Formats: sequence, C-alpha cells, structure tokens
Amino acid sequence: MRFARRLDQVPPYLFAVIERRIEAMRAEGVDVISLGIGDPDLPTPAAVIEALERAVERPETHRYPSNSGLVAFREAVSSFYARRFDVAIDPSTEVIPVLGGKEAVAHVALACLDPGDVALAPDPGYPPYTSGPVFAGAEVHYLPLREDNAFMPDLDAIPAETAARANLLYFNYPNNPTGAVVADGFFDRAVAFAREHDLIAIHDSAYTEIAFDGYRPPSFLATPGAKDVGAEIFSLSKGWNMTGWRVGWIAGNAEVVERYRQLKTNLDSGMFDALQLAGVAALNDVPTFPQEMSEIYHRRRDLMLDALRAIGIDVEAPRATPYLWIRVPEGHDSSSFTELVLEQAAVIVSPGPSFGPSGEGYVRISLTVADARLEEAARRIASSLAVGYRA
Ligand SMILES: Cc1ncc(COP(=O)(O)O)c(C=O)c1O
Repeated sequence: MRFARRLDQVPPYLFAVIERRIEAMRAEGVDVISLGIGDPDLPTPAAVIEALERAVERPETHRYPSNSGLVAFREAVSSFYARRFDVAIDPSTEVIPVLGGKEAVAHVALACLDPGDVALAPDPGYPPYTSGPVFAGAEVHYLPLREDNAFMPDLDAIPAETAARANLLYFNYPNNPTGAVVADGFFDRAVAFAREHDLIAIHDSAYTEIAFDGYRPPSFLATPGAKDVGAEIFSLSKGWNMTGWRVGWIAGNAEVVERYRQLKTNLDSGMFDALQLAGVAALNDVPTFPQEMSEIYHRRRDLMLDALRAIGIDVEAPRATPYLWIRVPEGHDSSSFTELVLEQAAVIVSPGPSFGPSGEGYVRISLTVADARLEEAARRIASSLAVGYRA
C-alpha cells in the first residue's frame, strides 16, 4: 500500500504517542500520573448534560444538521460575545459551529492556503498550526515565542519575502503551551500586520475563560479592525469541561466564516443539533462555570508552583491556562528531563520541543488532575531529582 506523503511530513501527534506510552506502563502495573494532556478531569456542568438529554429526546434533532448551525446556537454565541467581550457578532453571517477548536484550527488552513503559500505559526504552538498548513500544501514559517519577549511573536523579524508569501497568521492568547497572556498592543499590531501583508489573521481563543488573579483575557475581535482581517476560533472544551463533546465556533470576518462554511460542506455535515442545544445551555445557563473552574486551576497552580520552588525550579505564575511552562533544571534538556520524571517518578510531562523547536529547554505540566495526584506527582518529581523536597 502507498499512502500520501503529507502524512510523513508531520511528526506523530504528540498525545497519541503519550497515550500509547501510558497504556504500556499501566499494563505493567505502574501507577502513572499524566500531567501531559490538557484534558479537564472534572465533569461537564449538569445543566449542559440535562440540556443534551432533553434535546436528544426530540426527533427533529436526529437529522443532518446544517453547516451554518442552528439559529439558537449562533444567537447564543452572539450574546456571549456581547456580554463577555463587548463585541458585536452578527449571528446570521459572522459565526458557524465547528467540531472543536482543533478541527477549525487545522481546516481553516485548507480554506486560506494554496500550495506555495506560507502560514505564520507560533513556536512553540499547538501542533495543528503546523499540520493544517502542511496538509494544505503550504509552508510553515515559525514565529519563535521567547521568554525574554514575554512569549509574543516578533512580527517585525519576519523576512519581507516570507511575509509577502504569507496568507495566514495564527496566534493564541492565553497561550498554549507557555501560559502567556497577550501583551498590550499585540492584537492591534496583528491587525496592522494583516492589513499590510493582505493576509488572514486567525486567533485561537481556546483558553480565554481559564484565567486567574482577576485577569479577564480579551477577545481578538474586540480589537478595532479585527473583523476586517480575520476570525477567532473558540471552544467550550476547556472552560466548560467539554473536551469530548467537540463544540466550538469560528466567528469574525463574514467572508472568512462563509468560506470556512463552504469548505466544511465538503468535509463534514455539521454539528449534531442536540450538541448545539447543549452548547446554548453552557453559554446561557452556566456562564460563570469557567470562573469556578479557574478557581480550581488557580489552587492547583499555586500548589504546583510551591512544590516546584521548593526543589529549586522557579516558574513565574501564569495568569491564565491550566498549564505551567517550566524551564528544565541545569544539566537537562527537555527530553532528558521528560525521560527522568517518566522513568523515576512515573509522571508524564510534555517535552517542549513537541510544540516546536523553540520549546527546547522547557516542559509543560498540565493542571488537569486532582490536587492529591498533583501533590503526589510533585513529591515524586522531587525525589527523582533527589534534592530532599518535603511536601
Ligand atoms: C491552543 C489550543 N487550541 C485549540 C485547542 C482545541 O481544543 P478542542 O478541539 O477540544 O476545542 C486546544 C486543545 O488543547 C489548544 O490547546
């Protein structure tokens, strides 16, 4: 059999590899603690589950959905944007549902890029910023996110020839994996850059609802001119503990939304209407649920930071996301540290380079496990580093 070369152009998907490793260790009876994947451990709010149950009892939800989405879903998104971000979204033209943010992040590349085009993607960054463009036959130009630049891309450092061929700019704040929040003025700079180079700006907004210390992350669409140049991908996965449900949307520029809808009519048949109605319940009936989740992550963040500091690993407290982006101790690189904690502590962390080459020297810890397990993981990491940490 021969398969498409494009599949060989992207590395194996990180979490698929991690999952296989966890399975193998668990099969040997090892008590593995995975801090690798950002998959919330707590349940979806009851109001959402009940809304799904009610919706699924209605036979009219059982037929093919439309790629445009239910009016009720689009209106709920529009009210959410008005309430939460003070942004006006026209429910009839400026939003459609997507089957989770990942689907949209990857597929939007097929709607925006031709072979030979360039996509500008943060490095480190969520892997589909690379695989989507590669599958579209485009090239990816990485935008390094460096700690000394507050993990913001330097758009001025992009070579003129590359910027001229670019047709898509991805960015993501609050950021996975670094936990960084957007610097003042960056969204304005992104709008100006997109205008200057006539490219489409796509903001991945997966983490705006998980934030701490009173910080409320903004929407890119609140930036003047943003809707002229691009769109935002949003997901209910993280804020409402709905990773398995695959509910999100793309909102913003009407032409981007329409072209994306056109693409999707050829790839999938839209989101199950009952799921859209459950999404409406998440937005309308339990709008503050993500704040409750944020309090839990806040507590876990501090617990883990204290534990890491006690063993000499100093990490700045992130103001958003359920992640800690940790510089590995002296004498280690990302891979040796990942292996050490896996072998000695049976704790899984994500090695930085799996998010792109600029991730070298870091690992990401996800706070999506119960406090007691986090404490246990911290204890085991400490003893694997053998520096006498006491919980
Ligand atoms: C930066 C970023 N974008 C998008 C997503 C997509 O999430 P989902 O497909 O569950 O909506 C994730 C999930 O981890 C993410 O980290």
